[in-house]
Amino acid sequence: MEKIIVKKSPALRGSVRISGSKNAALPILAASILGTEDIILEDVPDLKDIEIMIEVLESLGSKVEKLEKNKVLVNSKNLTSYETNYELMNKMRASFLVMGPLLARMGKTVNSLPGGCNIGSRPIDLHLKGFEALGAKVVCYDDGVSASCNELVGNVVYLDFPSVGATENIIMAATLAKGETVIENAAKEPEIVDLANFLRKMGAIVTGAGTSTIVIKGVKELKGCTHQIIPDRIEAGTFMVSAAISGGDVSVENIIPSHMKPITAKLIEAGNKVIESDDKIRVIGNPEGIPINIKTLPYPGFPTDMQAQFLALMTSLKGKSTVIETVFENRFMHVAQLTKMGADIEVNDRKALVTGGRPLRGEEVIATDLRAGAALILAGLVAEGKTTISDIYHIDRGYEDIEEKFRGLGANIERIDE
Ligand code: UD1
Repeated sequence: MEKIIVKKSPALRGSVRISGSKNAALPILAASILGTEDIILEDVPDLKDIEIMIEVLESLGSKVEKLEKNKVLVNSKNLTSYETNYELMNKMRASFLVMGPLLARMGKTVNSLPGGCNIGSRPIDLHLKGFEALGAKVVCYDDGVSASCNELVGNVVYLDFPSVGATENIIMAATLAKGETVIENAAKEPEIVDLANFLRKMGAIVTGAGTSTIVIKGVKELKGCTHQIIPDRIEAGTFMVSAAISGGDVSVENIIPSHMKPITAKLIEAGNKVIESDDKIRVIGNPEGIPINIKTLPYPGFPTDMQAQFLALMTSLKGKSTVIETVFENRFMHVAQLTKMGADIEVNDRKALVTGGRPLRGEEVIATDLRAGAALILAGLVAEGKTTISDIYHIDRGYEDIEEKFRGLGANIERIDE
């Protein structure tokens, strides 16, 4: 089993190039099903989740060719199936982003989902509500869901919550629907804007992405294009926190600084110096940082995907910091691991109270999910001794070349295979 070992490291220094966004690349790969011509995607991160999405596309009959490490060609002219298999669905929940495109292209989609329509605390009711509004018949069964239609017809869809995945799935389904679809209370994340930009290059008519009202006018068919995926704001945020927690001086390059605003604002509040330029941000960490309070919210609020990393940072800020997690239930699994390392964190329902300033010590810890794994690496940089992180397949789902990038900044980190 592979593990990552992090030893107490000097203040991190240098620059790091940020990869393409996982969460933008996943829906864009799914959307490639909508067209019948060659699609070339650049800056696709080389990650486990991307590999799984490529497997999903291939299982549906798309031809996918990796032209370079980060360049992928997809051709979905001859789709052979509208059904996603259980094994792939189980490996990555985001696989259901192919539902909207399949429904639009094939008129039917059958998806094996562990737990049917309601997967624990991550339901897909809003996706299904959107498909129904466009005229699809949705049937839920014990371990899956199907949706079918003669034709999709545009409609107004109001989302009870601005779900990222539901907004993406409904936009994709609506691109080939008859007439106009309006999504109200849509998610405003930069990844939605990237998807809309990509779809427009394919010939779709999408306006309003990045606002809470998105309008899609259906077209008959979509064509090929070349598209460069936007930089990963969560990877960038993780490296920005690494400068803060280690009292270092790190420049994150190849980013869109406006996407980083909620993270930049909190790092400044915590006493760090943040210098922005066109496509990079330099963070000069303040080891005497100031405690902060964060509340996770849909974009442009503070991202839930940066919550764990900030929790790690808070353990080093002398005084009381708080986190309120409003987006996901039960997203504090990393707290037990940080506590094992000596952190003082109390969780009450969706609120965590961190009393920072107690030194952390290296321990054997478990990456309970992707961002939790990143938080443990950050904590390991400043903990006394050696932190050994297991279950690192979670980390590999979302961070490209993570040890190499941290080592480039002077971190003492290695991967071992036991
Ligand atoms: C995406 C991101 C994930 C990020 C999340 C929130 C991808 C591949 N993943 O996930 O990294 O943490 O956005 O920024 O882009 N909900 C419902 N019903 C639904 C759909 C969602 O109740 O039909 C709820 C969820 O349970 C959750 C909240 O809405 O509490 C947010 O989920 P959503 O925005 O849909 O996240 P994902 O698209 O799954």
